[in-house]
Amino acid sequence: MSIAVCPGSFDPITLGHLDVVRRANRLFDVVVVGVARNAAKNALLEAEERVELARAALDDDPELAEVRVEQVPGLLTDFCRRVGAAAVVKGLRGGADFDGELPMALMNRHLSGVETVFVPGDQRYAHVASSLVKDIARHGGPIDDLVPPAAAEAVRAAIAHRA
Ligand code: PNS
Repeated sequence: MSIAVCPGSFDPITLGHLDVVRRANRLFDVVVVGVARNAAKNALLEAEERVELARAALDDDPELAEVRVEQVPGLLTDFCRRVGAAAVVKGLRGGADFDGELPMALMNRHLSGVETVFVPGDQRYAHVASSLVKDIARHGGPIDDLVPPAAAEAVRAAIAHRA
């Protein structure tokens, strides 16, 4: 059975993330979305909320209802070993993504042998990034066509709470 992990900060999950998870789900028998901490980023949403939002978004899509969502408590490679995944799947929107992802892919392979499979995301989402979603929301802009409904609400609430 082929098992893959789709890791990310998912702060929050976007329509672009869902597109990548959908592509991974067509390639692998089992897909686990791993909600992890990126040490280079300050998350807006708590890890538990990021997991819940990812879960809700997947439940809303019949094609993705079987995809699991779990929190990655530490190293991604330890998580992959625990769930039996031989592959990590990451989406690429362009060359800048590749430049950022390649060192992590090489490091993960160095640490554990896990391979990373890069999938080009749908062009419709090439401009969609969680960081931009949060920035738009902070300025009161519209984010409803960029993220699932519950994620949009959660981002607005978290920003209002912090203000
Ligand atoms: O969505 P992101 O922020 O691009 O995802 C990056 C993420 C969370 C997958 C990466 O930071 C990660 O794997 N974090 C878990 C800790 C870890 O394994 N760090 C070493 C990465 S080589």
